[in-house]
Amino acid sequence: MKITSIQKIATIIIICSGIFGLITVNGCVESKQVAAKSGAQLWGENCSRCHNMPAPATFSQEQWKTVGMHMQSRALLTNKEKDKIVEFLQQSSN
Ligand code: HEC
Repeated sequence: MKITSIQKIATIIIICSGIFGLITVNGCVESKQVAAKSGAQLWGENCSRCHNMPAPATFSQEQWKTVGMHMQSRALLTNKEKDKIVEFLQQSSN
């Protein structure tokens, strides 16, 4: 049986949408994992990779916001991860 070009195009579209679907589902699973993690957990996983973790009481709430922005670029965190960590540090500081 000869494959027509319409069949070829249809096959390509089906394969592409399958791959795209997988990527989308994967993205959702990943963001759910981030959502399930607490700020304290993200802090423990990310902030001790390069240096000792300064205790939450080391900085004021305002200072943690700045540290968060600074360390977000160092630790390559998403906005959501950074927000959770900063929130945790602010709650635990004075
Ligand atoms: C990729 C390595 C790396 C990771 C991950 C990292 N830091 Fe840092 N951190 C540094 C370096 C390097 C410095 C020294 C200051 C500078 O030049 O950035 C620093 C300095 C600091 C300081 C001193 C104050 C300042 O802003 O300079 C604090 C507080 C801090 N980090 C907190 C954190 C927190 C909280 C996290 C987790 C969100 C984190 N760090 C993750 C590399 C890292």
